[in-house]
Amino acid sequence: MEIKTRVLPADEAGVAEAAQLLRQGQLVALPTETVYGIAADARNGAAVRNIFIAKGRPQDNPLIVHVTGPEMLPGLVSEVPERAQLLMAAFCPGPLTIIMPRGPEVADECCAGLDTVGIRMPSHPVARAVIQQSGCAFAAPSANLSGKPSPTNAQDVFTDMDGRLPLILDGGECDVGVESTVVSVVGEKPTLFRPGHITLEDLERALGEEVEVSKAILEKLPEGAVVRSPGMKYKHYAPKADVTLLNGTFEQFKAYVDAHKDENPSCLCFTGESAKLDVPCVEYGREGDGADQAKHIFRSLRALDEQGDGVVYARCPQKDGLSMAVYNRLIRAAAFRVIDL
Ligand code: TXA
Ligand code: MG
Repeated sequence: MEIKTRVLPADEAGVAEAAQLLRQGQLVALPTETVYGIAADARNGAAVRNIFIAKGRPQDNPLIVHVTGPEMLPGLVSEVPERAQLLMAAFCPGPLTIIMPRGPEVADECCAGLDTVGIRMPSHPVARAVIQQSGCAFAAPSANLSGKPSPTNAQDVFTDMDGRLPLILDGGECDVGVESTVVSVVGEKPTLFRPGHITLEDLERALGEEVEVSKAILEKLPEGAVVRSPGMKYKHYAPKADVTLLNGTFEQFKAYVDAHKDENPSCLCFTGESAKLDVPCVEYGREGDGADQAKHIFRSLRALDEQGDGVVYARCPQKDGLSMAVYNRLIRAAAFRVIDL
């Protein structure tokens, strides 16, 4: 059945409406500081199932549960490990998801058969107000159709979700632009599952120990490999175009693009570079500035899609610090094609 989708400003009336819908077991798309999410009451299995339908998401990919603070954790987790306490003290509220042992009240649908649950305490005032007013911890994946770039503004949510959920709250552009850092504290060693605005170095400083980096973050896993965080195994963020990352200097990049003009390529480049390339370009942030790149990468990938399909050559970000999050998203958009120049 086609649903009428309303877009409301994320003001007092909008938040009140969203809170009411959540309590009724309905879906609401809303802004967080990272990307927009599709929220449903995390204790309501039927509501959570509808998230998977709205996104066309595989059932085996677990969802993150959002709360305002540690006071909401009883029932959602069975234990708050000491490492989780250190991380919460350092970074919450903020763009971090901590994988903890699952509690009895989380709907099975959130956990995809795992005995863990991802917990996040967003700092965005709209996300926090909706949790407070509804009294619901909400499960929320990014508000894109499965396989598309995560949305960082309400218009991009509408493009994907029109007719699939009743309400989108418009809270403007997201600050961070890539999804939260995901770190697990259930294994023997803390492990980074997804890089984000809070970096590996940030986590290691707060924990006072080394954090393992899940292999799937920076490279393609062999077919059939077991992944501890299911989201990492999907191609993800796939634009229509055939994207290839070119790793080298701007001069090398320009020479490569010039030598491949017969392919009619477009470029995904750093700020200020379009003027120096004589093919269609989309810029995705300043060179060497991971935070700026993160903020614009998903909108830029969507802009590429709007230009149609074809060959795209992309400038390669660094792999460490804040840029690790950008590299992680870009190599998936490029289906792991990287050429060293
Ligand atoms: O910033 C964010 O985290 C956004 C906003 C809306 O909060 N949400 C988001 O959710 O990115 P989603 O569903 O698009 O990504 C969740 C990621 C997936 O890669 C999933 O596999 C992983 O977190 N994940 C969730 N629960 C997990 C668990 N129990 N164990 C391992 N990985 C988990
Ligand atoms: Mg997602």
